[in-house]
Amino acid sequence: MPTLQITDLSGIKTTLEAKSGDTLMESLRDNGYDEILAICGGVCSCSSCHVYIEPSWQAKTGSPCEDEHQLVSSTEHHRENSRLSCQITLTDDMDGMEVVIANQVY
Ligand code: FES
Repeated sequence: MPTLQITDLSGIKTTLEAKSGDTLMESLRDNGYDEILAICGGVCSCSSCHVYIEPSWQAKTGSPCEDEHQLVSSTEHHRENSRLSCQITLTDDMDGMEVVIANQVY
């Protein structure tokens, strides 16, 4: 059960007790992070679950697949550490991971 450090759009930092096996999008959406719209429901076709993963944690999350890379890189607020949170499945070794919610304008 990883504990995640979340920074929301207004810069407020909170702690989220997540569940291994859920996607990061599901954990955010189901725990009141309303900036995560997740319009497509997690099938990598909307980019409304955009987050930034602190670079030191990118080895744990792995790299985006080509479809995710193309979709997220076309968003207005894309950065090098952008990810679609629906494409990250949480594991216990992500305990302490820092996640920043991106502006969902796309
Ligand atoms: S929820 Fe649509 S791309 Fe992630």
